[in-house]
Amino acid sequence: MTELKVLFTREQIAARVAELGQQISRDFAGEPVVLVGVLKGAAIFLSDLSRQIDLDSTFDFISVSSYGRQKQNSGEVKLLKDVDQSMEDKNVILVEDILDTGLTMAYLRKMILAHHPRAFRIAALLDKKCRRQQPIDADYTGFEIPDEFVVGYGMDYAERYRNLPDICVVE
Ligand code: IMP
Ligand code: MG
Repeated sequence: MTELKVLFTREQIAARVAELGQQISRDFAGEPVVLVGVLKGAAIFLSDLSRQIDLDSTFDFISVSSYGRQKQNSGEVKLLKDVDQSMEDKNVILVEDILDTGLTMAYLRKMILAHHPRAFRIAALLDKKCRRQQPIDADYTGFEIPDEFVVGYGMDYAERYRNLPDICVVE
């Protein structure tokens, strides 16, 4: 049996997401932004974050997979779905659920920077800083967490648990 222990409640998540939204609204005041969500894990974070951003904004989505991942990231990234529009001269905020080794984000950053956006920022709900293999950091971070496997609020374990309203540790 998989045991789930609550790490962040829905109330804690909502409060932090609201703060991140306010910060982004201040930083890009008067300018439009494109929120690029990394499927599927960031879908719920993006939908909540976007409603806390008081700016003219549009959505786009990108999908990647790592070969042979279970709980472990193999280090190889494969692009499954690219953005629909060019990011040239746009204020791009890449929205991700977790920054772990940083391999996915380093790959996506390189890809998006090749479009020559006006600005590029990363918003990551969670950050497992201690796991980093690539030198990359988020500009907007929800919570820093230890090296534990988490699910809920969009995040999965073998595709399950994405719909849990709280963020839980799998034990
Ligand atoms: P990275 O390339 O190692 O930074 O991998 C980041 C991706 O791995 C995240 O976007 C998640 O999709 C996934 N991931 C890493 N840690 C967890 C976790 O604890 N729970 C669920 N997914 C995770
Ligand atoms: Mg992800």
